[in-house]
Amino acid sequence: MKNGSVLVIGSLNMDLVAQVGSMPRRGETILGHSFAAMMGGKGSNQAVAAARLGSQVALIGCLGSDEFGESMQAVLRQERIETGGISQVENVPSGAALVCVDPDGDNSIVVVPGANSHLTARDIDRHADLFQACDVVVLQMEIPVETVVYSMAEAKRLGKTVILNLAPSRRMPVEALRHVDYLVVNEVEAEELTGVSINQFDRLVEGLAGLPCRHVILTLGAEGVAYLADGRVLRLPAYRVQAVDTTGAGDSFVGAFASRLARGDEAEEAVAYAVKVAAITVTRLGAQAALPTEEEIRQFEQVWGVEQP
Ligand code: RIB
Repeated sequence: MKNGSVLVIGSLNMDLVAQVGSMPRRGETILGHSFAAMMGGKGSNQAVAAARLGSQVALIGCLGSDEFGESMQAVLRQERIETGGISQVENVPSGAALVCVDPDGDNSIVVVPGANSHLTARDIDRHADLFQACDVVVLQMEIPVETVVYSMAEAKRLGKTVILNLAPSRRMPVEALRHVDYLVVNEVEAEELTGVSINQFDRLVEGLAGLPCRHVILTLGAEGVAYLADGRVLRLPAYRVQAVDTTGAGDSFVGAFASRLARGDEAEEAVAYAVKVAAITVTRLGAQAALPTEEEIRQFEQVWGVEQP
């Protein structure tokens, strides 16, 4: 099996994570019971997820001229990620995310994009070599929308497989989705995109199937995943694990899916693999810190079996 080469274009954040007894209400100050600064950002998380699963990964993004920027770059290199596509923006802070995690593992996140909002089409053009070298291009929505749209068109022009994770949900021209091979959305993103509630599941699926992208993957948390392709809806259940922190679960799914596609898996196999990776991720605290290696997935398969639950 080839290793597969993945190019991620996206955000890098420092996550400031507090574990809390319950989410603070408006105007309320609460006491948390743990704090940690951990690497995150949807782009960076997805890049690390794919790299830990054996893919060759390059990341295009922007960091600020601060301590966070320096340390994040060093950690990515340790993860064997090609960091030549990461620029440092002068006099701007690196992206940061304030994350609260409750006892059920649910989170609430505020992202302050900082340097991430400085990633432009010019940066994309400067790294044409990284586009040429990859099999799969992965994008999310914590960088400027114009840069996402430009990158997708460029990737498609070069015949690459394009995965767009529409997270966080932001408006983008629907016709830009024609450049997308696999659109990955969660229920909130799907509702915002189609204007249909998750409670009307069949109508929601119809709305998603009518989008100009080739395939849609709808992630449903503890309810698993729905994969829409060629007029079919394939449902894959989630593993019943004890969630500690769901932060980064979606990123682990996208990174794993990209990694397996780049290595030559069929999409359905890649989705099934990504469901396992997300299951392991939610059992540990943090986004990047929780991402599993191939060896950990083998151990998981020994406990749960290779097939879906
Ligand atoms: O998806 C989880 C990520 O969202 C966190 O790491 C945080 O940085 C935000 O980008």
